Amino acid sequence: MVKLLSRIHNKKILKHDQAMMKLPFLSTEKLAIGIDIGSHSVKICELKLTDKTYSVINLGSILLPEGAVEDGSLHNPEAVGTAISELLKNLQIKHKKVAISISGYSVIVKKIHLAIMEEKQLEEFISSEAEQYIPFDIDDVYLDFQELKTNTGDSDATDILLVAAKKEIVDEYLNMLRGLGLQPVVVDVDAFVLENIYESNYPLHGTVALVDIGATNMHINIISDGTSITAKDIVMGSRQLTEQIAETFDITTEEAEALKIGQTPAEDKQEQIARIFNSICSQWVSEIKKTIDLYHSNKTNKRLDKLALSGGGSKVAGLIEFLHNETNVPVEIFNPFIKMLKNPKQIDPDYLNNIGPEMTIAAGLALRTSVI
Ligand SMILES: Nc1ncnc2c1ncn2[C@@H]1O[C@H](COP(=O)(O)OP(=O)(O)OP(=O)(O)O)[C@@H](O)[C@H]1O
Ligand SMILES: [Mg+2]
Repeated sequence: MVKLLSRIHNKKILKHDQAMMKLPFLSTEKLAIGIDIGSHSVKICELKLTDKTYSVINLGSILLPEGAVEDGSLHNPEAVGTAISELLKNLQIKHKKVAISISGYSVIVKKIHLAIMEEKQLEEFISSEAEQYIPFDIDDVYLDFQELKTNTGDSDATDILLVAAKKEIVDEYLNMLRGLGLQPVVVDVDAFVLENIYESNYPLHGTVALVDIGATNMHINIISDGTSITAKDIVMGSRQLTEQIAETFDITTEEAEALKIGQTPAEDKQEQIARIFNSICSQWVSEIKKTIDLYHSNKTNKRLDKLALSGGGSKVAGLIEFLHNETNVPVEIFNPFIKMLKNPKQIDPDYLNNIGPEMTIAAGLALRTSVI
């Protein structure tokens, strides 16, 4: 059984404060292997939970051929399957239970305001009434929901987060994984995974905008005191930079990628590359600002304390300063392993630091229990 999209914020995940509690005995819970299937690369992460503390066990990434994953769907399942198998083999991971996430047009997330009900009653209500909230045929989607516990006691209504994902798209992922002999136990949504991994590493109080910038997608999730207030997926990412560099200098995507990440010295191209960075990062910043404005359009919302950036796109030189100047909010790189135990003899600390931003979603998926 797949826990689809489910336990969206996973009630089994230890919140920061609970993780501080010490149990009189050691207990280890077997966790799922987190597999983040991005459009640029697959990232895999294995964590261990012992005595309520997470340890980083194993992690790595592998590039995907261009076009294998587009718009959140598997265009070339064979190529993605081959990449996952190769990476699991390289990392010597034997555990078969895996957690994945999806995003993009196949997922609809809606906050609805309903009268407080018992869980069972709510389940029945959602399955019979979901159609009115979702632009898809109800038979074509997997549904899940979570009570957000926003009721303050002065009304008898509360907010429910409703999630619907197209079966066709989700099944493509499940079939591909099963074809590799893996057992998918959780399918989550990128924006929620981001939230879970943030909350297991950083204090719950305050208001933060989590921004993951990948190759083709940007996920923004603004959370306040542990509750998601505004979430948005935007089709933008670091591949825009590669494409623009390739076009400007009439070079291949690989050559442009190497120039972008500084692997090849820019030399006389420096000025033009800086202009490309500037123009594309301005688009990203403008989208981030629009989401922040949307968040503030509700007058009761608190001031943003910070922006936490993840994804490979967060490494773009100068982006942190640019974003800070434009939003006037402190900006930092999200380290998904900051609170976890790490063994420098097993995983090189420099490698872990460098890959941290890209690993955020894989690490968030690896928090999930494999017990089903
Ligand atoms: N130093 C850098 N400067 C600019 N871009 C970078 C840098 N390092 C990595 N990237 C870019 O980050 C992207 C990969 O990030 P990530 O692994 O988060 O993407 P993904 O998860 O595969 O994609 P998506 O989530 O959008 O489908 C690539 O486009 C890569 O070129
Ligand atoms: Mg990604």
